Amino acid sequence: MVLVNEERCIGCGQCEKDCFSRTIRVENGKAKVFGRCMECGHCVAVCPMDAVEMEGYDGGEIFSGSRELCNIAPEDFLRFLKFRRSTRQYADCPVEREKLEMIVEAGRYTPTARNRQDVHFVLVQEWMAEIRPMIWEGFREMAKAWKEPAYQKMLLEFCREYDADHKNDRLFCGAPVLAVVTCETPWNGELTARTMELMAESLGLGSLYSGFIQRSIGYSPQAQEAMGISGERIAACLLLGYPGVKYLRSVPRKKAHAEWL
Ligand SMILES: Cc1cc2nc3c(=O)[nH]c(=O)nc-3n(C[C@H](O)[C@H](O)[C@H](O)COP(=O)(O)O)c2cc1C
Repeated sequence: MVLVNEERCIGCGQCEKDCFSRTIRVENGKAKVFGRCMECGHCVAVCPMDAVEMEGYDGGEIFSGSRELCNIAPEDFLRFLKFRRSTRQYADCPVEREKLEMIVEAGRYTPTARNRQDVHFVLVQEWMAEIRPMIWEGFREMAKAWKEPAYQKMLLEFCREYDADHKNDRLFCGAPVLAVVTCETPWNGELTARTMELMAESLGLGSLYSGFIQRSIGYSPQAQEAMGISGERIAACLLLGYPGVKYLRSVPRKKAHAEWL
C-alpha cells in the first residue's frame, strides 16, 4: 500500500506520470492514492520531496542516488558477460554466508511480471551431505525413465561412475552450494536465477544452471520435503562455489540471428 505524506507533497505530478496503473494521481495540488497497485515503487523513486512510502516494506533499505553512480563501463560489462563460463569443477571450500546473502539480494531485485515478487530461494550448503544423495536417487529414477536410449545410456553411466566413487559426481561437480529457485511464474524465477548467476560471477564464484538437478528433484519427493519445496514449481537450480578451473580465454558463439529493421 502506497502512502503519501501530504505535508511534503508539492503536487508536482512526477509520481502520476510514472505510475503504470495510474493509481496515484494529483488532485487539489496533492498526490492521492486510489486503491491498490502493484507496488512497483516508482512513485517512491521519482518523488523529488521523498514524500511517498510503501507500507509493508522496509523503508530503511532505500538509498538515494542517480544512475551515474551505478554506471558500469559498457565495454567492461560486455567483456564480463562474454568471459562468464558455466563451472563444472569446484574447489573444495565452502562459500561465505555473506556472499550467498548478496546473491539472494541480487535475486530479490530482479524484475518480476506484475511485480509479483513470487520467488522462493533455498540455499543448500550445510545440509548438502544429506540432500545430495536424495537428489541422486531422483536422478537415478529419471535416468531409468528416460525415453531416448542413447541419452539414457549416458545418464546411467553417470550413475555407475557415482556408485563406484561418490567423488565422481557429474551431477553436483563437487559444488558446495545448491541454490533452488521456486516460483509460481516460471519466467520470474528463471530471470531471478540469471541475476543470481551474474552476482555470483562478480563475487569470483563459479556457477552452473543444472537442468539435471531440477528434473531430478522432481523425481525425489524426499528431497522436495527436505528442502521445504513440496508442491512448489522449480524455476531453476544453480550450483555455486569457488571455481576449480581457470579459463584463459572467451569462447566463440554463433553470430546473432537478428534483424535490424
Ligand atoms: C537452463 C539451463 C540448464 C542447464 N543444465 C545443465 C546441466 O544439467 N548440466 C550441465 O552440465 N550444464 C547445464 N547447463 C549449462 C549449459 O550447458 C551451458 O550454459 C552451455 O553449454 C554454454 O556454456 P557456458 O555457460 O560456459 O557459456 C544448463 C544451462 C542452462 C541455461
